[in-house]
Amino acid sequence: MSAINKLSVGIRKFHTTASRLRKYVELTAVRYPLLKRGNFSFLSDRHLGFFQSILSAHQVLTDELNDLSGYNVDWMRSVRGSSRLVLRPKTTEEVAAILQYCNVQNIAICPQGGNTGLVGGSVPVFDEVVLSLELMDEVISVDELSGVTIVQAGCVLEKLETVLHLSNLALPLDLGAKGSCQIGGNVATNAGGIRLLRYGNLHGSVLGLTAVLANGQIMDCLNTNKKDNTGYDLKQLFIGSEGTLGVVTQVALQCQPKPSSVQVGFFGLNSFENVLETLRLSKRNLGEILSSCELIDQSSLECVTKQLELRSPINNFPFYMLLETAGSNAGHDAEKLNSLLEILINNGTIVDGTLAVDSAQAKNLWGLRERISEALACEGYVYKYDVSVPIRQFYQLVDDIRIRLGNLPIRCCGYGHLGDGNLHLNITSHEYNPILLNRIEPFVYDWVGQERGSVSAEHGLGLKKRDYMEYSKSPTAIHWMRRVKKLFDPNNILNPYKIFPEQSSTD
Ligand code: FAD
Ligand code: MLT
Ligand code: ZN
Repeated sequence: MSAINKLSVGIRKFHTTASRLRKYVELTAVRYPLLKRGNFSFLSDRHLGFFQSILSAHQVLTDELNDLSGYNVDWMRSVRGSSRLVLRPKTTEEVAAILQYCNVQNIAICPQGGNTGLVGGSVPVFDEVVLSLELMDEVISVDELSGVTIVQAGCVLEKLETVLHLSNLALPLDLGAKGSCQIGGNVATNAGGIRLLRYGNLHGSVLGLTAVLANGQIMDCLNTNKKDNTGYDLKQLFIGSEGTLGVVTQVALQCQPKPSSVQVGFFGLNSFENVLETLRLSKRNLGEILSSCELIDQSSLECVTKQLELRSPINNFPFYMLLETAGSNAGHDAEKLNSLLEILINNGTIVDGTLAVDSAQAKNLWGLRERISEALACEGYVYKYDVSVPIRQFYQLVDDIRIRLGNLPIRCCGYGHLGDGNLHLNITSHEYNPILLNRIEPFVYDWVGQERGSVSAEHGLGLKKRDYMEYSKSPTAIHWMRRVKKLFDPNNILNPYKIFPEQSSTD
């Protein structure tokens, strides 16, 4: 196993433009004045002394200017906490010792992975201690035959992908943030991404995990069997719990054989009806080799090409689709894709497009889709919505919000995981504008609620969406979620202020 970790893997930390880094980020406590700090202890020298006694010097960061700022601000640069301490454990036992102490001392904790979360869940709201998993990045074992892979939670997704490729295996998930996000963060958010269409979500691919509970108890659910019906499947509670029920320290994943043939196509379409027809025929004709079906609208493509200086092979269409197939027989796969394209071109559904001839071209085409969020962030402040909607209404929300907002924003665009019914509606303005925000919310949530969609398809609720949980969950479901939280974390030390709306005294 140690050979795996000795591999030097070139991980691309995905870039952040200098202008974004310089931009001042208002403190969350100032931007959201209604938020009230919980009744937690303030960090004292005695607390610090304890952490320094159980961890090495480089595992305890306190230098506000040089060390802490990156842990206090989210990737979107939309929220900023004021933590004075970052702890970086290396083992499950160290996490357990930290949590046990914090629970007794009433110290609030914010677990943090790669800090690429998009809902303000990964950074402190006030002065919570940041518990970073970044030093827990070992790939523990890979079994090519079964595909079972065990990994520490802080392993960066792209590093894991590189290691798995050496054993001819592939991850069941992939996302634009893979150069920075960690498998523990992916599990904690139940991240979706661009391959969900093919492999399903992490509730299916995570075979087991280890989590440390708020009181420091280590919950070993590190099952590696595909089938296990011995009672409640407790690991599922941690998948998508956003650091509120426990800290995930190890994950057992069901990985897949690495496809030997991958095809990527990028197509221009003149109407949303044509988009739906392409989706329908792609599913029917490509069957099990269809691995991605993504939508990009004109405004999103315009943004990514302009802001990041990328080149698109085709232009001036209201809609673009990126289709990917992944299979094990290049000849058969090409035959399937070609016959699909013949139908779509002959009946005028697809007007223009291109197929990547090699992996470099495929990567460039994927860049046009995966780097949209990075491009949007260059425009200033991004109002980001990640919703599930019935497939026929997929783009209607973008049209409706455009009419509602007129020329208030810079841009209003839609892209996303079409094959999964997951729309990313994004609106930009030069800077945070509460008037614009009030025009968007709760309109967007009402719209999604009426369609019985989900107000968070894959990014979670974190801080920014927590007040809208009720649009997608019944009062009874929310009541029992609160009961589960109370059972696992009675003192509410784990990621307080996240997921749940503030409780009124009558709740
Ligand atoms: P963080 O951002 O650090 O944390 C996210 C949440 O998980 C926080 O609440 C945190 O407290 C908690 N957490 C982190 N680690 C642990 C742990 N070990 N134990 C317990 N709790 C923990 N998301 C998608 O679903 N699909 C996408 O396609 C997608 N694409 C993205 C593209 C870009 C460019 C960016 C910036 C983000 C994207 N995201 C996407 C959102 C984000 O990458 C995912 O939510 C990701 O899973 C977060 O992982 P992370 O390690 O960065 O976690
Ligand atoms: C994506 O699919 O690109 C991500 O979920 C990020 C985003 O919504 O911008
Ligand atoms: Zn997404």
